Amino acid sequence: MYFVSSNEHKFKEIKKLLSEFSSTPLRLEHKKLKLLEIQSSSLSEVAKAKANHAFDLIRNEVLVEDDGLFIESLNNFPGVYSSYVYDTIGNIGILDLLKNKKSRKATFKSLIAYYDGKNLKTFDGQVDGFISEQMFEGGWGFDPIFIPEDMDRAFAQMDLKLKNKYSHRKLALKEFYSWYIKNNVAERK
Ligand code: IMP
Repeated sequence: MYFVSSNEHKFKEIKKLLSEFSSTPLRLEHKKLKLLEIQSSSLSEVAKAKANHAFDLIRNEVLVEDDGLFIESLNNFPGVYSSYVYDTIGNIGILDLLKNKKSRKATFKSLIAYYDGKNLKTFDGQVDGFISEQMFEGGWGFDPIFIPEDMDRAFAQMDLKLKNKYSHRKLALKEFYSWYIKNNVAERK
């Protein structure tokens, strides 16, 4: 199976997670490709479109992921536009937008989609938390400004093992993995 994404960090985290779920982990390889991101108000629709595009390119079973950071006091912005917002105003821009806001509550969501040309399935996971007051060193993407609930540090300050314990990605991947094993999709290949 191929994990199709231009993001090496996601693949690294997913590989590690799969090795923790089972002693015989799925064989997952990384196809580093940039997929079409359709404009939609739903992460699930974006993930499904990515899965279709990935399958068209690879013609093999594929796994893709679409994420979003939803900030409560900004009416859930940037949400599905997270990637664009990260590339434009970045973490500093987000901290600026939150300067005079009372609430810093935010939720990170992951949508993982699997497609083998017949079954198109999506799996979601989310982690509630807060946007930090300052940017922390390390990590990638929004890691420097996202603190999971009940934690004393941002994703950026965690090693891979700890981040994987709390991440939105872990929950979505776990759902996918359980479905995949339960339905013996692996054996039918
Ligand atoms: P994408 O569209 O799925 O690539 O993700 C939307 C944005 O969220 C991108 O800017 C990613 O860098 C960022 N992102 C996704 N997952 C994470 C994460 O686990 N940590 C930090 N940033 C993330």
